[in-house]
Amino acid sequence: MPNLAWEQQHVWHPYAAMPNPNPVYQVTSAYGVDLTLKDCRKVIDGMSSWWSAIHGYNVPELNTAIEKQLQDMAHVMFGGLTHQPAIDLAKTLINITPTNLEHVFFADSGSGAVEVALKMALQYQIGRKKDHKNKFLSLTNAYHGDTFAAMSVCDPNNSMHHLYKGLLPTHHFVAPDIQALREAFEAHHHELAAMIVEPIVQGAGGMLFYPAEVLQEIRKLCDEYDVLLIADEIATGFGRTGKLFACEHADIQPDILCLGKALTGGYLTLAAVLTDLKISQGIQKEGHILMHGPTFMANPLACAVAKASIDLLLDSPWQARVSNIESQLQEGLAPCLQSDKVADVRVMGAIGVIEMKDAIDIPNVQAQLLDNGVWLRPFGKLLYTMPPFICSDKHIQHITQAMTSI
Ligand SMILES: Cc1ncc(COP(=O)(O)O)c(C=O)c1O
Repeated sequence: MPNLAWEQQHVWHPYAAMPNPNPVYQVTSAYGVDLTLKDCRKVIDGMSSWWSAIHGYNVPELNTAIEKQLQDMAHVMFGGLTHQPAIDLAKTLINITPTNLEHVFFADSGSGAVEVALKMALQYQIGRKKDHKNKFLSLTNAYHGDTFAAMSVCDPNNSMHHLYKGLLPTHHFVAPDIQALREAFEAHHHELAAMIVEPIVQGAGGMLFYPAEVLQEIRKLCDEYDVLLIADEIATGFGRTGKLFACEHADIQPDILCLGKALTGGYLTLAAVLTDLKISQGIQKEGHILMHGPTFMANPLACAVAKASIDLLLDSPWQARVSNIESQLQEGLAPCLQSDKVADVRVMGAIGVIEMKDAIDIPNVQAQLLDNGVWLRPFGKLLYTMPPFICSDKHIQHITQAMTSI
């Protein structure tokens, strides 16, 4: 049996049927912005491996960071032990994130980070003897991950997790609209532990953008009504929207911040939750501690490569690069608006989205894109790209030409 025929009957893929899923393509190597497929085709990765590979692939500085760390140790438990890569990364994260955030919890995936953030908010309220504040407010079209608590703050009516409606704890949802937000806070504040948001850009729930004024209003309402603000910057963090963190568009500070994806430059799985003193102290009132501690917490290889990735980003002209990608995407995708099949085109930073009027025939469109030398993974009605920041004008033109020819 040929290799992939066996694979397709035994190996589960993300959001896929088993057996007989949609086709997958075998990658044999990745270098710069290119993926090389088993059939020898070389294609540009317009997805940055799901928002993570911001520097592209096989990056010398990142390879070296891992190789060097490997000489000392690949892993050691974090319970009762510590190591320099975790200390160095924590220092860097505290330095580059909003000034109020001073405590770092290393989680092992984005969804895991969201679980930790929600637990922190609940334990903070318990510590204040406000146990009745045990619900969350989230945005319509929100996506925060695939684990149970994370699914419960994904929009139940418009998300990939709608099947679980009825099985999950129920929380409150509101549109990113100032009047609607005011009403939601007024109605539910007494039972709200926190509001959780993807700042400015909502990703997997629809690749939607909302104005900075809405985020500013959310911060104000959280303060006014004694509700914590959790910013889930797992997708938006590390420059993707044109700011290092999307909260900077609104000049606000969250009480809890979740980071992931591009944290390690796409090399290894690692996430981080940052919080301020008020919350950390609140959690441990009455002698409680935060009951979370994954086996691979603060994996040294992941911490070392994350530190190297952040250094590389900050030493690069990333703002100019992202802003140039934004102009290239705007110019390259604008012609789509002429098409009867297209409902909307939107661009922010290094994110370019074509929203079609009808659902996309994903296997066919993907095959067509690959024939045109580009890897993308559309979903629903959305054909979108989040390319690596190292893409040249030519790479972006290549991606937008492939997208506009669909
Ligand atoms: C905003 C946001 N939060 C959380 C997650 C979950 O991260 P992970 O896939 O690493 O569990 C994602 C993943 O797409 C995301 O976009």
